[in-house]
Amino acid sequence: MNILITGGAGYIGSHVAKQLLETTKYNVIILDNLSTGSKKTLRTLESIRKFKFIKLDLKKFKKVDKVFKKNKIDTIIHFAASIVVPESVENPLKYYMNNTVNTTNLIKCAISNGVQRFIFSSTAAVYGEPAAISKNGIDENYPTNPINPYGMSKLMSERVLQDTAKAYPYFKYVIFRYFNVAGADIHYSPSSIDHLLSANLSPRIGQSFPDATHLIKIASECAIHKRAKMSIFGTDFPTDDGTGVRDYIHVDDLASAHIQAIDYLGDHPSDVFNLGYGKGFSVREVISTMKQATKVDFEVVEAPRRAGDPAILVADNNKIISKMNWTPRYNDLVLICESAFKWEERV
Ligand SMILES: NC(=O)c1ccc[n+]([C@@H]2O[C@H](COP(=O)([O-])OP(=O)(O)OC[C@H]3O[C@@H](n4cnc5c(N)ncnc54)[C@H](O)[C@@H]3O)[C@@H](O)[C@H]2O)c1
Repeated sequence: MNILITGGAGYIGSHVAKQLLETTKYNVIILDNLSTGSKKTLRTLESIRKFKFIKLDLKKFKKVDKVFKKNKIDTIIHFAASIVVPESVENPLKYYMNNTVNTTNLIKCAISNGVQRFIFSSTAAVYGEPAAISKNGIDENYPTNPINPYGMSKLMSERVLQDTAKAYPYFKYVIFRYFNVAGADIHYSPSSIDHLLSANLSPRIGQSFPDATHLIKIASECAIHKRAKMSIFGTDFPTDDGTGVRDYIHVDDLASAHIQAIDYLGDHPSDVFNLGYGKGFSVREVISTMKQATKVDFEVVEAPRRAGDPAILVADNNKIISKMNWTPRYNDLVLICESAFKWEERV
């Protein structure tokens, strides 16, 4: 089966590519413009197994269509996007062009070239600022109401996919709405018999883009003293310790759901799934876990809330567990922090 991964040189796409390359079942083709993706990551993936890399921007519509004409693509896993929320507020057209317009063209190429499966990276940002949340978190039927162009650009892409699949019944999709993705490649250097010790954790790939804004990435940068200090934005939320609560999912568990989705679409209809662990941690809990896991203390300052940050954002993940039988393996905040820290030490 030939699988096209757009954005496969980036953080999440490379973890999915790694898992696909670790089996011999799939031919992998990565298409990436390397705007935030990394050549070093591609070299690391090459060391697992050979694959085809196409350096191309999705906005080059004719060239993208030629990729489909030259390669018989069975499945697209589409990660390529612009992903920085504040930037999407300042420069919305960049987000609508790169995320919605380019995704629409990719879907058009898929239809004109007979692709049957499309797996799409969406985001919990499509839910916006949920008002009241049940204890079980947000399920997929929760009303969508994005509050920034990034979330809206993804919701619009979801709609294009859904309408297209209605019109072309052979074309099926899985939309994944990710919660907070964190951590790095769970890989141990086999230097001792007890190699599955956190001391031997040795991620080969991780989040490389220098201006990442994710909490666990920033905390790990503080722990290796790449940053002098970090801020907690908002200490007066209606949560137990006053800081925002989020659902942090390890990137390798997130990746495994994509691999399962390929087979799932063989005999199931198109669907939308949340991807998270269904458990929330506050900002203070994450920072103290990073400090304990790394045994490094660092300065933390309190700052006002940022506009549009909801108090709690936790997934109800019952749908993916019951329908896809997805079984996460790394549901452990300490391991997530350790892997992020070990990766940060390497880059
Ligand atoms: N990281 C998260 O926490 C998170 C949360 C929710 C959703 N997502 C979604 O997951 C996907 C992957 O995110 P990520 O964190 O790996 O980001 P990333 O920036 O690391 O990866 C994106 C990749 O796409 C490539 N790319 C961007 N625009 C392109 C274009 N026009 N043509 C070709 N390649 C292009 C980049 O070079 C990069 O390799 C995105 O669609 C994002 O919206 C991420």
